[in-house]
Amino acid sequence: MKTFKIGLMGCGMIASYGHLPAIMETDGLTIHALYDPNEQSLQHEARRYSVPHAYSDLDAFFASGIDAVVICSPAPSHLQNFIDVAAHNLPILCEKPLAMDAEEGQTMIQIMEDQDLMVAVGFCYRFSPCALKIKELIQQDAIGDVRSMRLIYNWDCHGKYYKPDPLNQPDFWIEDPRRRGRMDEGGPMVDCGTHQIDLARWWTQSNVSRFQSHAAWVDDYEAPDHVWVHMDHDNSAHTMVEMSYSFGHTTKDRISHFLYEIIGTKGMIRYDRNFSHFELRNEHGTYQLEYHEEKNFHGMYEAFYEALSTGELGNLCSVEDALEVTRIARTATTNLIENRHGLSVV
Ligand SMILES: NC(=O)c1ccc[n+]([C@@H]2O[C@H](COP(=O)([O-])OP(=O)(O)OC[C@H]3O[C@@H](n4cnc5c(N)ncnc54)[C@H](O)[C@@H]3O)[C@@H](O)[C@H]2O)c1
Repeated sequence: MKTFKIGLMGCGMIASYGHLPAIMETDGLTIHALYDPNEQSLQHEARRYSVPHAYSDLDAFFASGIDAVVICSPAPSHLQNFIDVAAHNLPILCEKPLAMDAEEGQTMIQIMEDQDLMVAVGFCYRFSPCALKIKELIQQDAIGDVRSMRLIYNWDCHGKYYKPDPLNQPDFWIEDPRRRGRMDEGGPMVDCGTHQIDLARWWTQSNVSRFQSHAAWVDDYEAPDHVWVHMDHDNSAHTMVEMSYSFGHTTKDRISHFLYEIIGTKGMIRYDRNFSHFELRNEHGTYQLEYHEEKNFHGMYEAFYEALSTGELGNLCSVEDALEVTRIARTATTNLIENRHGLSVV
């Protein structure tokens, strides 16, 4: 079995809890080198996962002998990281959202085509055994034609406040920079909602022909922190995606709400994370299905190994699909900001 040496750019939260452990547990992949301009984050992850090479210097990172690169930096850095990796002709797995806007996306597509680069986007929800099962059930006609989907994720995005030094200053709270960072990058629909928009298109294999968005500003960031997008698909299905970053964001006890409901002409599928519940109902009865979490980084890396070996993306998200998903989420959000308190129709 060939082994691919992976280099990872951006040693933050998602690299630490998602990518690095998943790369390490995937046969055929080894984590060879890290890059991060922040020396503290870099050394922390290098030590934590015993990564042999760690650089805050780009040339040294690319000279370390890596076969492919995973981009886990914040979204505004993705384009520059992409350009740097492409200059070394290496395959890429990039975190979502791929690009900040359509112009950046077109630049990426141009580079990818000119250099015949393999690029996949890290939509890890696709690899949850439940998401894969939903796709299979729809393909097997277990619920007939999909007509309506409700995809909901309401949470606090780590909460509005946190204690930077709980040991020495137990009563000192500041605004959590992670939540502000996500809001500054576009808010819940652009950040988390892209997963749900991607699933809706991928499950139904149907493009979105038009969409409308609505929002509430629970906090006063520029972007709305509670957003609804209603999408009509080419195949006549309708999807409602609801995303909030202000669901209990100042409450003492945390709460979240995560739901998929897929309603077809002959039945329905229901996935409710709050109750670890996953079921199919149709004319034959009600079937309790095996529950799994909504994300699966390991499954995504098994698919990345296959893609590196065969050149085929398989279930990995293509750049074209990722850009369409980002376009929907970002246009919906931008329209809402421009027409605050109004209705946007595209
Ligand atoms: N798939 C998911 O479910 C999921 C969840 C959370 C975040 N994300 C995405 O992952 C990406 C990173 O999010 P995060 O929460 O880990 O962010 P983070 O802020 O915790 O970490 C980002 C890291 O990137 C580093 N960095 C900054 N500029 C860089 C550059 N130019 N090149 C390389 N590294 C750079 C920072 O120093 C930091 O260590 C974002 O695109 C975010 O949307 C995905």
